[in-house]
Amino acid sequence: MLIELEELQRQAESELKKSKTEEELLAIKTKYLGRKGILTKLLRGLGDIEPEERPQVGNRCNEIKATLTAAIENALKARTSLKKKEVLLRDRIDVTLPGRRIRFGREHPVASVCKDICDIFAALGFSAVQGPEIELDYYNFEALNIPKDHPARDMQDTFYVEDNIVLRTHTSPVQIRVMEKQRPPIRILSPGRVYRPDSDISHTPMFHQIEGLLVDKGVTFGDLKGVLTLFLKQMFGGDTALRFRPSFFPFTEPSAEVDIKCVMCRGAGCRVCSQSGWLEILGSGMVDPEVFKNVNYDPEEFSGFAFGLGLERIAMLKYGISDIRLFFENDWRFLEQF
Ligand code: DAH
Repeated sequence: MLIELEELQRQAESELKKSKTEEELLAIKTKYLGRKGILTKLLRGLGDIEPEERPQVGNRCNEIKATLTAAIENALKARTSLKKKEVLLRDRIDVTLPGRRIRFGREHPVASVCKDICDIFAALGFSAVQGPEIELDYYNFEALNIPKDHPARDMQDTFYVEDNIVLRTHTSPVQIRVMEKQRPPIRILSPGRVYRPDSDISHTPMFHQIEGLLVDKGVTFGDLKGVLTLFLKQMFGGDTALRFRPSFFPFTEPSAEVDIKCVMCRGAGCRVCSQSGWLEILGSGMVDPEVFKNVNYDPEEFSGFAFGLGLERIAMLKYGISDIRLFFENDWRFLEQF
């Protein structure tokens, strides 16, 4: 029996030496020391052994059990610290590497143009107001004298949310919302996002406009010319040449578009101005009496002018940017330049 025990110990120790993984170690532990393990069984069966042999065999069993337990625990501990070392080695941080450069944000060119325009008009007593981007057909079209099926709707391709709800195609509906709530005198400016299903180097499905509206007693086309001239000269420089050109908008009568002398070629003709020497900057006009009627203003008592312009277009001209899509790519190499 004692010889068998020596053999058992040798076998267990050689298995232990060969084992490499934690799983293998645990398997050996179970095999010899587990509830149904070889040594456990032997100890339980001591009663069947001849009484003279019993103490010696018992002692030997306990010794082997103790040695084996200690050996397995040691091997397991060694295994865990090896694992830790491997992880530390793998996740090592090289503190001598150079750090990453932090890039600072800048004001977006569209935002700074918006601010410039708002500042100029604030000095003339205009205050900024906001309107919803998801708008009723009524405010976006109907109240602005653009009835359903009117050909003027083709000027503004439209995203429909529902039959009577659109993504606003311009900031002009804010005029109606303001006039519905307020009596003249009115001097407002309304910057914001607008939407049209267009996409190429000069169009994006979302872009920004600013709408302006002034209503009072005795406002004339002369006031419109004076205010817009002052604005454009402050915006593009005092020696900027302007041109008021007759145009049509359903919500103004008469209407005018305003051009400035091309900032790229100074009027000589180039790709940016399509060789015309002029750049179209904004739409404007005297508020149509039909629009006043829609908000219960008496067109005999009040008159006013309105205007609208695209912010990206202004920013493109101011900074010499040839593709409107650059504004919305959030590439810091582009944005960092302003
Ligand atoms: N809403 C027009 C557009 O998006 C721009 C415009 C033209 C606004 C004339 C006005 C205006 O207020 O009087 O093209």
